[in-house]
Amino acid sequence: EKGTYPHFMLKEIDEQPFVMRKIINEYQTEDSELKLDKNVRQAMKDCDRIYIIAAGTSYHAGLVGKAFIEKLANIPVEVHIASEFSYNMPLLSVKPLFIFISQSGETADSRAVLVRIKEMGHPALTITNVPGSTLSREADYTLNLYAGPEIAVASTKAYTAQIAVLAILAVDTAKAKCLELDFDPMQELAIVANAMEVLTDQKETIEELARDYLSKTRNAFFIGRSTDYYVCMEAALKLKEISYIQAEGFAGGELKHGTIALIEEGTPVIAISTQENVNYSIRGNVQEVVARGANDMVISMKGLEQDTDAFVIPQVHELLTPLVSVVPMQLLAYYAALHRDCDVDKPRNLAKSVTVE
Ligand code: M6R
Repeated sequence: EKGTYPHFMLKEIDEQPFVMRKIINEYQTEDSELKLDKNVRQAMKDCDRIYIIAAGTSYHAGLVGKAFIEKLANIPVEVHIASEFSYNMPLLSVKPLFIFISQSGETADSRAVLVRIKEMGHPALTITNVPGSTLSREADYTLNLYAGPEIAVASTKAYTAQIAVLAILAVDTAKAKCLELDFDPMQELAIVANAMEVLTDQKETIEELARDYLSKTRNAFFIGRSTDYYVCMEAALKLKEISYIQAEGFAGGELKHGTIALIEEGTPVIAISTQENVNYSIRGNVQEVVARGANDMVISMKGLEQDTDAFVIPQVHELLTPLVSVVPMQLLAYYAALHRDCDVDKPRNLAKSVTVE
């Protein structure tokens, strides 16, 4: 039920801090140890390469998950769009582990890959919001997202739940492998939950930004580097699917390789900067587009902000910034859709779960 909310999407955006806290509780023992199925732990330890398979928003979460698993657990990871995997099946490693990320657990494109790799005899883990779903039943192991039902077609709380669970999985694996670790995921996720609350309390500011930058435009660009780039891809998808604005998320460094040709007087360019090592470069990209007439909106993290930034997000651990920077992006898409009189919860031509290939 929507309760007092006008749309499920807004309710689900607001639920994200609670989902973070739920995940912390569900994946923690009473003495604050990580609580994970021991078979999952073993499968992670045993594999020599991970193949993440997903679609849409879940694919974007997978990109962030790759960074966690590689940096923390020291296992190479490939992230594949489910529908493309069959055409371009990579050369598999000797001991692959497949991770399927799916809110619904019913995505046909992902299931087709699952069926195929099970025929080949490879192990599979599904990370899903629906434990009894097809992808969950047909995989060897399941991790639950505990996000509660997600009704709006545009995925919001499932995305942040996926990233949180992937962070916990990466840390658990690092611990199981006795790797050195300077990162307490539960403590950091608790900080994230509070930061999310600060952001969901700033709806008016974001609504104004949506009105000023996005209510009339035909297109919009999101630029970022490193993990900010992955959030840009998610931000663009969110905007496309509910406001029908043609949007693209791309890597700041790629601008000069073609996309900058699209910048005209007034083109909205939204830049995300949450990583110290890319802050300087992404701001250089902003200057390049502004010099060509772009209407820039910089969203930065506290500590990296400049006076002209449109919005500053609270500081969280640098690995977890996507969990926080995505919230204003979700709200921007939401308010852009409202200003354009779009059906926020049921955008045209889309279904909540895509059960055909
Ligand atoms: O249920 P899944 O996570 O497998 O769904 C994958 C995509 O269909 C889904 O994320 C889609 O892109 C959303 N509508 C995005 O908001």
